[in-house]
Amino acid sequence: MRAVVVFESLWGNTEQLAREIAAGIGGERTDVVDAAWAPSALDSDVDLLVVGGPTHAFSMSTGSTRESAKQEGAEHVPARGIREWIEAHTSPGRAVPVATFDTRVVSPRLPGSAAKKAMKRLVGLGFRPVAKPETFGVHGYAGPVADGELERARRWGAELARLLSHH
Ligand SMILES: Cc1cc2nc3c(=O)[nH]c(=O)nc-3n(C[C@H](O)[C@H](O)[C@H](O)COP(=O)(O)O)c2cc1C
Repeated sequence: MRAVVVFESLWGNTEQLAREIAAGIGGERTDVVDAAWAPSALDSDVDLLVVGGPTHAFSMSTGSTRESAKQEGAEHVPARGIREWIEAHTSPGRAVPVATFDTRVVSPRLPGSAAKKAMKRLVGLGFRPVAKPETFGVHGYAGPVADGELERARRWGAELARLLSHH
């Protein structure tokens, strides 16, 4: 199986989770790539796409929320997040299985999920959902990832691989 995990991460929390998810998926080849550098078309042999980013202002980040993050002290502020990556993405031409995840602060819990918005767009492009959009908790804007979430991310990755193998 060949999987690609595309992530966006300003403080590193979503990236850490992306790496756990990739480890959980296992497979012969699972690439973890930053949305800022990810190519805008998938290779034709990709069996699973996973897309994850932070929830900013109840949705996927924008240039302006990333600028706010910079004011809040984020060191890694990418020019392109998952929103822009999806917008630039060409239709896969086949129903490539997709899963999305996001990070959100555990307290206060706010409505809105980047993962749900990302899934809607990806399904619009022709991807096929393999699981419901998933959320992982972080403490505050900067993190760290909440207790147990890295382990849960790894299990979620393994579950995605299991769901795929049944198709
Ligand atoms: C401008 C801005 C808006 C945010 N809005 C939300 C929000 O609506 N809901 C939420 O749960 N977290 C919100 N956060 C917190 C981010 O989700 C948090 O910084 C992120 O999950 C950390 O992941 P990262 O280290 O990968 O960037 C916001 C953060 C920033 C900088």
